Amino acid sequence: MSRIEIVEKNVLKVYQKENPSIHYILENDKKKKLREKNLKNLIFENLKFPKKMFEKANLIDIGAGTGDTAIFFNNWGADCTLMEMNKYALDRAKKIFKKISKKNTRNKFINASIFKKNLKKKYDIVTSIGVIHHTASPKIALKKISKLVRNDGYLILGVATDEGFFQRNLQRYIISLFTKLDNYEEVEKIAFKLFKENILRANKFGGRSIKAIVFDTYINPQIKGLSFFDIVRTLGKNFSYHSSAPKVNLFSNFDSPLSYKSDYFYKLKNLTNVSGLLMASNSENHLIKFKNLNKKLKNINDVHSKIIKLFSNFNQNSKINLVNFNKDIKKLNKLIKNYNILDDIFLENKKYNQELSNLSLLLNGKLNIHKFSKFIKNCKVLFKKSSGLGNNYYVFKKN
Ligand SMILES: C[S@@+](CC[C@H](N)C(=O)[O-])C[C@H]1O[C@@H](n2cnc3c(N)ncnc32)[C@H](O)[C@@H]1O
Repeated sequence: MSRIEIVEKNVLKVYQKENPSIHYILENDKKKKLREKNLKNLIFENLKFPKKMFEKANLIDIGAGTGDTAIFFNNWGADCTLMEMNKYALDRAKKIFKKISKKNTRNKFINASIFKKNLKKKYDIVTSIGVIHHTASPKIALKKISKLVRNDGYLILGVATDEGFFQRNLQRYIISLFTKLDNYEEVEKIAFKLFKENILRANKFGGRSIKAIVFDTYINPQIKGLSFFDIVRTLGKNFSYHSSAPKVNLFSNFDSPLSYKSDYFYKLKNLTNVSGLLMASNSENHLIKFKNLNKKLKNINDVHSKIIKLFSNFNQNSKINLVNFNKDIKKLNKLIKNYNILDDIFLENKKYNQELSNLSLLLNGKLNIHKFSKFIKNCKVLFKKSSGLGNNYYVFKKN
């Protein structure tokens, strides 16, 4: 058996015990509405990929699971092909499509692994959400998936990054100190004792059952993240970046949009990687962080605006006060010299680093689950909220 097949077999075993993707959209109308609302928010709003793109599109969803995602692509107008290696998941997908697929759409189901099936057909839209990081080779999987996109077609990808998954990998490690990760009952018990807050939160906002969350986060034997740069490199020159959520590029290109190349994130590689640091520590404090930054930037903005105003609507009759101009330029230089923007981007970085080093002390001491439980409860950043980022989503266009 190849490495790819071994991983497939192990992942499948876990998924057949507890399916990770059921959102109960047939059984519970409220959950169906929540699922569609979340997907609309993700795809139309955050990824800027409008609904009309799905109308009459030929779409393939790779690793479609129980179809709880693809069914909405279908409801928005796409003819869907669902490829999934788990037969039981696909059976449920068929049931969902039979009950609530859009009239006059044609849908197909393929029970196969992405590594084994070679499709000749190309699609307008190829989607794969939460799949390739559960394979032995996310890069080979991505390469195979990308070949299914037609020219001028789109790839919508949801994938874990190692940075985003860092805290959950720490959680997996901590749990593994007290039980084997394939001991389902024990893992569930320990995960719930130590990380109850994260699990309940994921249940509340994501709509999956507690059991499904525990299985997908802690028991799943393969979660190998793929970085943004790995993705761009693997896709190669034929693909151009369209959008990401959360945004991978903190800093934008402010050249004329008519002339800039979309690969400026390469040129700003270290700045682009700042988003990885934020994913690892906490992805949810942008507002607090930017409020502080906003306050700090007030003085710089005030002086800069004064300088701009001096020259606003300049014409033959305008008089420029060069004394003021000189004074304000000096003021601005001084303010900028005393000010380091990076300090403000990492609002909680000190706390996060402190908690990480406390955790490392704890890991080096005598293992005691109550000590861990107490430590985790007292953390302010580490293991709080969603404990890092689950999936990063991207849209790429094939040229
Ligand atoms: C976390 S689930 C995500 C399901 C679905 N895409 C969603 O968003 O709800 C991952 C799915 O990928 C499938 N999968 C994993 N490796 C695969 C492979 N090599 N080929 C096809 N499907 C695969 C699993 O069986 C599982 O259903």
